[in-house]
Amino acid sequence: MEQRTFQLFPEQASSIAGSVDGLYAYLVILSAFFSVLIFFLVVFFAIKYRKKDNSVPKPVDEHSIGGLLLEITWSVIPLGLTMVMFGWGASIVFQESRPPADSLEVFVTGKQWMWKIQHAEGAREINELHIPVNRDVRLTMTSEDVIHDFYVPAFRTKADVLPGRYTTEWFRPTRVGAYHIFCAEYCGTKHSGMIGTVYVMPEQDYNTWLAAGSGEGSMAEQGQALFNQLGCGNCHASAVNKNNGRCPNLAGLFGTTVDLKDGGRVKFDEAYIRESVLYPQSKIVAGYDDIMPTFKGLLTEDGLLKVVEYVKSLGPRNGTQTPAAPGSVMTSATEQQAPAQSRPAARQTAAQGNR
Ligand code: CUA
Repeated sequence: MEQRTFQLFPEQASSIAGSVDGLYAYLVILSAFFSVLIFFLVVFFAIKYRKKDNSVPKPVDEHSIGGLLLEITWSVIPLGLTMVMFGWGASIVFQESRPPADSLEVFVTGKQWMWKIQHAEGAREINELHIPVNRDVRLTMTSEDVIHDFYVPAFRTKADVLPGRYTTEWFRPTRVGAYHIFCAEYCGTKHSGMIGTVYVMPEQDYNTWLAAGSGEGSMAEQGQALFNQLGCGNCHASAVNKNNGRCPNLAGLFGTTVDLKDGGRVKFDEAYIRESVLYPQSKIVAGYDDIMPTFKGLLTEDGLLKVVEYVKSLGPRNGTQTPAAPGSVMTSATEQQAPAQSRPAARQTAAQGNR
């Protein structure tokens, strides 16, 4: 963050910053032009047509061709100008709401009053985000308490961070440097202190930084540990021959659309995994019974994201079914335990380990 004495705009440090600023300039210039025009005409006409004598003004013929032409002109021109605003704005919104498929995955948890950030590879940080330059980065975000909003002015991107839901935001940083993170939603006493820094690094430096890591393994690996501790694998065994048939085999499901018991269909995405862990009875897969207990209160938001990342790692994004790697989920010892017996103990351990 270079300190400058006066700066009207933050610098443009992402691929979308230029087009956002272009649209903003269009809006400002258009508003300024019409404000000046209207103020000028108000004063000009007031002087030009001021009442000079006591004569009664001649009424305007409402049905004259000139009047009609005037009406059409001042309807069509603003329509055109505002449709440009709409089309231009919509195209940027579409671009900003669709993260490219091969984006780097980063997970953000907002909490009064800090940003907790986890990288899929395992590194964790607080109020700091290290990313490589010229790579698409996708944030999956949630909140532990109230509504926050992750805002990076230099990238011209912001998105609400909501409790109980996953929202996403993506950007492609184009310049190496350090940039502000702000919380852009009033979230309590220290809202203004809920700030941080994005460090955009050359690819090489980023890899070095990432390699230093947390030493805790990737998010998927940590998620697998939680999955095992909580006893999920007792039922959701992914090795086909070991699946007891009472619960869906999770391998290869991510990115697919699954049929539900009530006849509906749902996309097997991050949000559905989250919902199924916390509210298992809400969307039951066709062919299965309502036997899964809720894991609400047993996982923090960070832990939940790790479990989501693990389930994602079991299945390809494009939805093609692939057989699970043998033994990728459970050791046979835990699998043989009856779920009813093992679950309370396992849940307790995980709950403790997770806090
Ligand atoms: Cu978090 Cu304002």
